[in-house]
Amino acid sequence: MLVEKNVPLQPYNTFHIVAKAHALVRVQSDADVQTLVADPQLGPQPKFVLGGGSNIVLTGDVKPVVLKVEVMGLRLLQDTERAWIVEAGGGESWHELVRWTLEQGYPGLENMALIPGSVGAAPVQNIGAYGVELQDRFESLDAVDLQTGQVFTLDAAQCAFGYRDSIFKHTAAPADVASGRPAGLGLAGRALITRVRLRLPKPWKPVLGYLDLEKKMAESGITEPTAQQIFDWVCAIRRAKLPDPAVIGNAGSFFKNPTVTPEQCADIIAREPKIVHYHLDDGTVKLAAGWLIDACGWKGKSIGQAGVYEKQALVLVNRGGGETGEDGSGPKGATGGEVMTLAKAIQTSVYERFGILLEPEPVVV
Ligand code: EPU
Repeated sequence: MLVEKNVPLQPYNTFHIVAKAHALVRVQSDADVQTLVADPQLGPQPKFVLGGGSNIVLTGDVKPVVLKVEVMGLRLLQDTERAWIVEAGGGESWHELVRWTLEQGYPGLENMALIPGSVGAAPVQNIGAYGVELQDRFESLDAVDLQTGQVFTLDAAQCAFGYRDSIFKHTAAPADVASGRPAGLGLAGRALITRVRLRLPKPWKPVLGYLDLEKKMAESGITEPTAQQIFDWVCAIRRAKLPDPAVIGNAGSFFKNPTVTPEQCADIIAREPKIVHYHLDDGTVKLAAGWLIDACGWKGKSIGQAGVYEKQALVLVNRGGGETGEDGSGPKGATGGEVMTLAKAIQTSVYERFGILLEPEPVVV
C-alpha cells in the first residue's frame, strides 16, 4: 500500500480549490481498503473518501487520510427480457458510463448525461437531472466498511434515497434512551462504494416531461427522439447553462431546491407572483432556488474570487484558476472560506426576503 504525503488536491476537486491531503491512498480494489483498515497505523485514523470531487468544498488541508477511489470496470451483468443490468467501478467517470451504455445499446441513463463526478459518488447524493434520478435506475451497490473492512451490498431501499440525499450523507446517531429515540441509520464517513449496478428497463421509454427538453423537441420538430438524441440535447442544454468544471471551477448546483407547504407557497406567490414553483406528488411545492437567488440580485456577483455564475444563479464558481502564485505566494483562485462566505451571504438575503433557508448541496470538508 502506497501512502502519498502532502498531495495537492486542486486537480481532484471540480471547484479547483487549492488544498492538500496530509496522506492519500489510491484504492483500486476491496482488498486495498481491507489492507488499509488492518494497518496498525492508518487503520484507526479518520478517513475521507474522495470520488470525482464534484460535490465538495475544501475549506483547508484535509487531515483525515484521503482514500481516492480508483476502482475501475464497466460490464453488462445481465440481459433479460425486462432489463439490462450494468455494473461500473466506483472510480469510473459517471458521464463515461452514460456514454458507454448508449454505445453498447443499453439506453436509460441519457437524461443524466454530463453530470460531473464519479460512479461511486452518484448514489451518495442520488444525482439527477431532466426528470430522472439515480434511484430510478438503481439496482444495488457494493461497499467496504471503513471500520471493519467488511464488504456489503445495499439495495435501493437500504440506501434510503431522497432528493439529493441517501444513507451515505447521514451520520449514525446513537439511540437516546431518555427520549426513546432509536439509533439513526447513517453511513457518512463509514463506507467506501466500490461498485454500482444499474437496471435499465426494457422496453426503453423516453423521459421528456422536462421543460428544457420539450423546448428542444419543439425547436427540432422531432417528436419521437432516440436515446442518443436525448443525450445530445441534455449535453447541449447543460453546456449552455452550466459552467464546464474543466474551464470554470464549480460544484454544480450549490443549494437544493427547497420544498414548502401549499399554504407557504400561496403566501409567497401573493407577494412574489413570478416565483418559479412545481407541485410535487406528495402535495408539497418545490421552489426553484436559482430563481430565488436570482431575484435577490446575486447573478454575476462575487465575494473575493468566489462568484455566482452569470447564466444560472444556483451555481457558485471559482473565478480564479486556483493555481498557486508563481512566487509560491498562495492560491490565486477562490478559497473554500470565500465560497462559504458567499454561500452564507446568499442564504441570508434569500431568508430575509422569502423566509426560506436554502440548504447547501455539496459536502463541506
Ligand atoms: N432560474 C432563474 N434564474 C436562475 C436560475 C434558474 O430564474 O439564475 C429558474 C429557471 O428559469 C427555471 C428554474 O429556475 O425556471 C429551474 O432552473 P433549471 O431548469 O436550470 O433547474 P434547477 O432547478 O436550477 C435542477 C438541478 C440540476 C439539474 C437541473 C435539471 C437541483 C439542486 N439542481 O436545477 O442539478 O441539472 O435541475 O434537471 O436540484 C446539480 O445537482 O448539481 C445540478 C446541476
